[in-house]
Amino acid sequence: MKVKVSRKAHFNAAHRLYRKDWDDNKNNRIFGKCNNPNFHGHNYELVVSVTGEIDPETGFVIDMKILKDLIRSEIEDALDHKNLNLEVPEFKELNPTAENIVIVIYNKLRPHIDSNRELEVVLYETPRNFVTYNG
Ligand code: NI
Repeated sequence: MKVKVSRKAHFNAAHRLYRKDWDDNKNNRIFGKCNNPNFHGHNYELVVSVTGEIDPETGFVIDMKILKDLIRSEIEDALDHKNLNLEVPEFKELNPTAENIVIVIYNKLRPHIDSNRELEVVLYETPRNFVTYNG
């Protein structure tokens, strides 16, 4: 029997969506307000889910404390109160769209989760806009 367990988390970050190789007109047309050169912020909400068999000894799929600490050390410490474009190496050459951020988060967590567990990350950029990645 597989069970999916989920932990919510949260971080604030600033970003700007643009391509250096496009001119201002095209960046404004495609990215609109998100191309503001002075950046803008989001309250990102995160749902990290791990799916797998229940360990018969502990009764856990994954120890929630371990998952909580992992999200703090790998994601919150790396992204919270950061300017994604300027301060987070993964976005030096990668547009920090919600789609790209969710993949970066997944890739940061994946090595720390048992390979026999499935991982899924849902990232809310606004209460109405969210993206999902599960590898
Ligand atoms: Ni934005």
